[in-house]
Amino acid sequence: MSLPVDQLGRGLRDLRISVTDRCNFRCRYCMPAEVFGPGYAFLPKQDLLSFEEMMRLIRIMVPLGVEKIRLTGGEPLLRQGLEDLVAMIASVPGVKDIAMTTNGVLLGHHAERMALAGLDRVTVSLDALDPVIFSKMNGTGAKVERVLKGIETAQVFGLPVKVNAVIQRGVNEKEILPLARWAKATGVDLRYIEYMDVGETNGWAMGEVVSGDEILTELASEFELEARPAAYRGEVAVHWKHRDDGREVGLIRSVTKPFCRDCQRLRLSADGKIFTCLFAADGFDLRGMLRGEMDDSGVAAAISGIWSNRADRYSEERGSVTRPKAEMSYLGG
Ligand code: GTP
Ligand code: 5AD
Ligand code: SF4
Ligand code: SF4
Repeated sequence: MSLPVDQLGRGLRDLRISVTDRCNFRCRYCMPAEVFGPGYAFLPKQDLLSFEEMMRLIRIMVPLGVEKIRLTGGEPLLRQGLEDLVAMIASVPGVKDIAMTTNGVLLGHHAERMALAGLDRVTVSLDALDPVIFSKMNGTGAKVERVLKGIETAQVFGLPVKVNAVIQRGVNEKEILPLARWAKATGVDLRYIEYMDVGETNGWAMGEVVSGDEILTELASEFELEARPAAYRGEVAVHWKHRDDGREVGLIRSVTKPFCRDCQRLRLSADGKIFTCLFAADGFDLRGMLRGEMDDSGVAAAISGIWSNRADRYSEERGSVTRPKAEMSYLGG
């Protein structure tokens, strides 16, 4: 089958798989505790795709262009036996990169097994080094030392680590410089993320977004930086190099400088729906097809058709469209 191209000329390269909608954190900007409380109806087990079902989809999508796979959630390390999935993915010819996005709390326990299974790298969400701010932001009182230890352990087992920090006005903008100092000293690729209006529950307001430009001004007050060109088409983060040691720091400016033009990402939710945009209202249910009579070429044709019809560019249209949006913890970060 030929490689599908969407309505804006974009190919399908990255598949982001949410392996669970559950998380052991309650970050306000993602899963506010008052919404995702004890009574919240997470997906029942029988609705989750099995690893075998995920593998079938991966094998179908690699010939359609998928090269990069990211495991995400919720918190992916809450899914039992995740290293078995990683090992199966690593054995598929054509998969060039397997990454995982995690909050890092369980990383210390799992890093060795994940690295041995064939995970290429990890991205850890870390919004603050200050213990009080960190505990408050994650909504569960989890300790920052545990995440730092998880990062160290991942590095010991040879996993390159990227760190994502969402900066929210009035919450953690004081952490911009401490995070930059720490990342420079530890050799971690740190990317600051503009707070996004994803989902329906975080009460997002434009006034709470700390723009990439503001972050850059803050960084320039302490560091000498120079811009570096994109490493590959569709690189989400724009990077700056420290003049003294060549280490890098990045910005993900999806609010003030959208990058839809190069968006080659497809998201698969834990219950088997595909979403062609992080801000989509709903996805297309593949689970029904997988559990029905449909053969692989039928599933491939369905995915190709959906991709070919895709015209998503939400971040570029922000403000001019209003529609309900799925939660990021469900459809995958
Ligand atoms: P690598 O370059 O492969 O490490 O991944 P990446 O740059 O895509 O980074 P990652 O997957 O860690 O994404 C970082 C954050 O950028 C996400 O958690 C989102 O907040 C944001 N992001 C990623 N993909 C998209 C996207 O398609 N649209 C928008 N608006 N934001 C995105
Ligand atoms: N805005 C920006 N980034 C977010 N993330 C979760 N919710 C938001 C939001 N509203 C980020 C997390 C994590 C990744 C999965 O997505 O911090 O790094
Ligand atoms: Fe969990 Fe990540 Fe969402 Fe925080 S941002 S609640 S760690 S899924
Ligand atoms: Fe891609 Fe949608 Fe994000 Fe734009 S807003 S980069 S189309 S996921």
